[in-house]
Amino acid sequence: MTQIIDGKKIAHEVLTECESEIAELKQQGITPGLAVVLVGEDPASKVYVNSKVKKCSELGLHSEKIVLSKDATQEEVLAVVTRLNEDDAIHGILVQSPPPPQIDEEAIVRAIDPAKDVDGFHPENVAKLALEDSTGFVPCTPAGCMRLLQASGIETSGAEAVVVGRSMIVGKPMALLLMARGSDATVTVAHSRTKDLVEVCRRADIIIAAIGKPEFLTADFVKDGATVIDVGINRVEDPSTKKGYRLCGDVSYEEVAAKAHAMTPVPGGVGPMTIAMLIKNTIKAARQRGELL
Ligand code: GUN
Repeated sequence: MTQIIDGKKIAHEVLTECESEIAELKQQGITPGLAVVLVGEDPASKVYVNSKVKKCSELGLHSEKIVLSKDATQEEVLAVVTRLNEDDAIHGILVQSPPPPQIDEEAIVRAIDPAKDVDGFHPENVAKLALEDSTGFVPCTPAGCMRLLQASGIETSGAEAVVVGRSMIVGKPMALLLMARGSDATVTVAHSRTKDLVEVCRRADIIIAAIGKPEFLTADFVKDGATVIDVGINRVEDPSTKKGYRLCGDVSYEEVAAKAHAMTPVPGGVGPMTIAMLIKNTIKAARQRGELL
């Protein structure tokens, strides 16, 4: 029987831990605050931003949503970041990716105070992850994947892990987390130019699929008994549904589920974990500012 890794349930466990930490901080007069910045009108980004803000209010966190038009200039976005850096009620800042093409995203990320960079995208936090310095912020999606593996009893030590995708949001930090001391996996990072991708993936005890192509990873990529974590969230046209589309991952769910030891569904796998880890990072930012380590 394939173990279906229930991201909703595990995210709920993380958020229950968060609730007691929030209560403790509030007793000390600190309400963790998160600012979420959306530039433009990308429909998926709008949904993500709204669910982040909603989760904050459910948990009694302070939150601020800033929406800028799709024509916003670099200076306008930088001005918002500067204001949020200086706002004592805000402990975490997130600028939703991807922004419209006129925005230099890297420059925006560098402008965020690293102590408020709850996405873990600032070079200082990227360096801390590589250095295994636990005072930094780890990007939320890969941190969520690690938690799914741990909560599901998947052994990473000595395991062959293949990360498919080399983005700064998922692939690269994921590889660093899996190879870090304590996780101890043997990691291969594969990408669009990898030769014999099927063969590379078939070696894996653990596959992290972060490719961005709907249902790309089919059963022939997967060794019997492997664990498959599907990071993809793709909208594919489906006239038979009310919305005209359905959500699917980067993995062909049914056929891979028939072979895997454990795997995540989409939706309900990695997605809920990303928000839970964002809340955790916001609490960490508030604790570190208050020097409540
Ligand atoms: N877009 C997709 N995932 C993320 C994320 O984790 N953070 C931000 N800021 N944008 C994203």
